[in-house]
Amino acid sequence: MSSGNVYIETFGCQMNELDSELVCGQLRALGYGFTTDSSRADVVLYNTCSVREHAEQKVWSRLGELRERKLTQPNLVVGVLGCMAERDGEDLMRRMPVVDVMCGPGELDKLPTLLDNAVRTRASLLAELPEHLNATDISARQVALQGNTSRRSATLAAAADTLELLDLSRSISPIAAGGDDHTAARRTAYVRITRGCNKFCTYCVVPFTRGAEIHRPPDHIVDECKRLADAGVLEITLLGQTVNHYRFEHGASVTVGGVVQPQKGRTYAGGHRRDPFAGEATTTFADLLARIHDEVPSIQRLRFVTSYPRDFGDDVLEVIRDHPRLCRYLHVPAQSGSDRILKLMNRGYTVAEYTEFLDRARAFLDQPEIGRPLMLSGDFIVGFPTETDEDFEATIALVERARYKSAFIFKYSPRPGTVAIEKLADDVPEAVKRSRNNQLLLAQARISEEIGATLLGTTPQVFVEGLSAKERKRRDRAQPASSAPKLPGGVSLTIAGRAASNHAVAEITEEACCSTRPREADADTLPELVQLSGRTDGDVIVHFDAPPGRSPESMLGTIVPVRITQVRALSVLGTVASA
Ligand code: SAH
Ligand code: SF4
Ligand code: F3S
Repeated sequence: MSSGNVYIETFGCQMNELDSELVCGQLRALGYGFTTDSSRADVVLYNTCSVREHAEQKVWSRLGELRERKLTQPNLVVGVLGCMAERDGEDLMRRMPVVDVMCGPGELDKLPTLLDNAVRTRASLLAELPEHLNATDISARQVALQGNTSRRSATLAAAADTLELLDLSRSISPIAAGGDDHTAARRTAYVRITRGCNKFCTYCVVPFTRGAEIHRPPDHIVDECKRLADAGVLEITLLGQTVNHYRFEHGASVTVGGVVQPQKGRTYAGGHRRDPFAGEATTTFADLLARIHDEVPSIQRLRFVTSYPRDFGDDVLEVIRDHPRLCRYLHVPAQSGSDRILKLMNRGYTVAEYTEFLDRARAFLDQPEIGRPLMLSGDFIVGFPTETDEDFEATIALVERARYKSAFIFKYSPRPGTVAIEKLADDVPEAVKRSRNNQLLLAQARISEEIGATLLGTTPQVFVEGLSAKERKRRDRAQPASSAPKLPGGVSLTIAGRAASNHAVAEITEEACCSTRPREADADTLPELVQLSGRTDGDVIVHFDAPPGRSPESMLGTIVPVRITQVRALSVLGTVASA
């Protein structure tokens, strides 16, 4: 049995949050403890993101700080997990000998063994450390990466096999009714349905870091949802890079090592109707949604991210319309409003096709008259190579037309290994990127406020996630972080990573053990009026005060009716209505 205190920090998207949670579960089962105070850890792990350069820079600076620390704590083991490990490969270790363990996202099932080896290897290297070296010069060098894509596709089945075991290993413990365990964190969960991505958008590292697209067997997914629901989870978010591209062919599957292997079938190219190749032996995305909805009735909210615009058949929209616990929320990134730029990005659709999808989705799903408006969100990249003022104006026009409740806007960041960096000069000056970024943010802020205004006077059901950002700041001022009370496992009451950052790929850096989602508060420290934050079915963030006489912590992870009274650009305010 291994032991030691682990500090893990998660950067990047929800996929990484889930990976961190699964890794923590495995390490906990092996006897490791966890801390949110990096300075008290024996093992420091960074689960990293490579999507933009900025995300990687944060990790470089963290590693620089740890170098100093190894001089005073030579036994410290440092691990870089996730997409940056996979992208930088062993080069990262050469440049940063402070790193003892490197583990790509496709190899995380091996992490416990790597860590164990690293702890032992460090100890024996230190015991025989030559005089001219110090503790920062040696690395335990434990590496598990998938390597380049060609090697990866050759070993796809094996990789899928062991990785599927990582998801299957998920430890789910029941939530005690009415007890301290009544936490929002444990009532909301991510479930992976698809790994990897085959789209190869020209700017994007994800197909290189996460590998080829693989769909998990539907029985495994439904079982996982059932186990989560049995443990008290109310809200599930299905994860995939192009989540609505999900498709599993049963007839073609084989079993390797006791695990059903997904097989590549004829690829559905998208379109309006039901997947024409789908027969009895195929589970389409629409089938999967209906199955989870019907077979796991205690899940109150089922949503999915991130959708790819071209893969929305009418069958999926019909299933959402006809199954009440499927959320009326679609996150469907457009990336640009210019056909020329979309082509350079290899996105595979035109602006007209994208807007046709928006109109069709609204025709099926937007029903404000029954309290079920459709809420959309999107992603955009500004300053992609060769982007002109006209291209950018077209993006503004698309944002105006789409009327997202929120949009995530990024300045183009050239990524090594992608087609864009090889073939297209990063020719939009930084000042222009910044100005376009700000303009688009402003346009979206106005629209977000207008969308929020349509909710005024309505009383949506709100899933309570945690303290509002304002409340957290107020508490931080009143009580500096170092003296803030910590919960068992060392997690202070934090709001969802995605609430704070509001995006899949915003860099999430909050302290957390194995989840950046909210945990319960220390009852003694709560003042009388506490501002909480939650989400509607359409993913709109709502802030409201816990009603007097009701303990805020008992509301976390519950769904309450909130009457909307005021509107802000990024959230709406309301008061809890009597149920
Ligand atoms: N699979 C999702 C997105 C995954 S990456 C999709 O296709 O929509 C999340 C977001 O990061 C992307 O939607 C894109 O807007 C942004 N992004 C990806 N690579 C980027 C880059 N090189 N520079 C800037 N933004 C990028
Ligand atoms: Fe990246 Fe494109 Fe795949 Fe999204 S669809 S993960 S942007 S390659
Ligand atoms: Fe990897 Fe997610 Fe970032 S897939 S590159 S951690 S956005």
